[in-house]
Amino acid sequence: MSLRKTSAAASAPGKIILFGEHFVVYGSHAILASINKRIKVNVCLNKNHTINIISNLGIVGSYKDSEFTLIKGGKKAKQILDLIFKCVSSVLSERNQNLGININLISDIPYGVGLGSSAACCVATVAAVDSLFREPNRQWICVKAVECERLVHKNSSGADCYISVFGGLMYYVKDEGFKKIKSKNDPTLVIVNTRMKHSTGDLVSLVKNFRDQNVLLFIDLTSHADTICEQALASINNGNEKKLGELMNENHALLRHIGVSHRKIDRAVQICVRNGALGAKLTGAGGGGSIIALIPHEKKMRVISEIKKNRFECIPVKFDYNGLITY
Ligand code: PMV
Repeated sequence: MSLRKTSAAASAPGKIILFGEHFVVYGSHAILASINKRIKVNVCLNKNHTINIISNLGIVGSYKDSEFTLIKGGKKAKQILDLIFKCVSSVLSERNQNLGININLISDIPYGVGLGSSAACCVATVAAVDSLFREPNRQWICVKAVECERLVHKNSSGADCYISVFGGLMYYVKDEGFKKIKSKNDPTLVIVNTRMKHSTGDLVSLVKNFRDQNVLLFIDLTSHADTICEQALASINNGNEKKLGELMNENHALLRHIGVSHRKIDRAVQICVRNGALGAKLTGAGGGGSIIALIPHEKKMRVISEIKKNRFECIPVKFDYNGLITY
């Protein structure tokens, strides 16, 4: 396929999982929303057949004929750079091209704390590189981004890439796809970042071990998680925030049961609930990372001040209805 242009850009949002993380990997339901935090990827051709990657995450690296040079960043940097490189090379091989490309990635999504930065990175990179050759096709970009993400986290449900591409609020089932949710009023959620980084792959493996050792119990927990998701969908549709908060607490208890919470996560949930949140739960893989809390307007200042006293980061967010944007 021939080139359509010599430079392109794409931007993709991060996400929160409102309900159903981990259970979604085993075919259960999940509710997700994309958030107004994004990764933007600019790409342009170079003449030296090298893939050069630079990012405001403090990482810089270069690949020539699969030979890697780390220019800036530590061990962790290689993981992110490899993911970006895989996205680039996968699209190039699909288009039968062996081009040099400079990539500039700018992120305002905190990395490794459950807010979908890896998926947004895959989506924006795949979209920007593919835009060099043809008009963007959201479905194709999504499938390719999931494929690339699975090179790092092989059991990924794919939910993070779907929400990043299509945006908004969605009800998702692995291998079946998604339905957009039209809420009357978006619940106003606050993210609390414990600043403890996690590895999604490790936590997904931990849940797999739990499941292997507790087969019948896991079936019960999965069916409970499904019921929570269905009730949550109804509560979002009716704008019943009190019920939604209760369901968040219930979902958090389930996640604790399968061992993916962390004392910092539980502390953050407790602070929110004790100070007036209607509900709070971990979001994403857990083991550190972030929580989300549903807080009535009049209690917000009090909760935020308590959260800050405990040295957690408070991130007020809005849902994003654009999803992937290409330029
Ligand atoms: O923490 P994150 O943003 O990587 O989210 C992981 C969500 C899981 O349900 C735990 C895994 C998945 O693939 O859905």
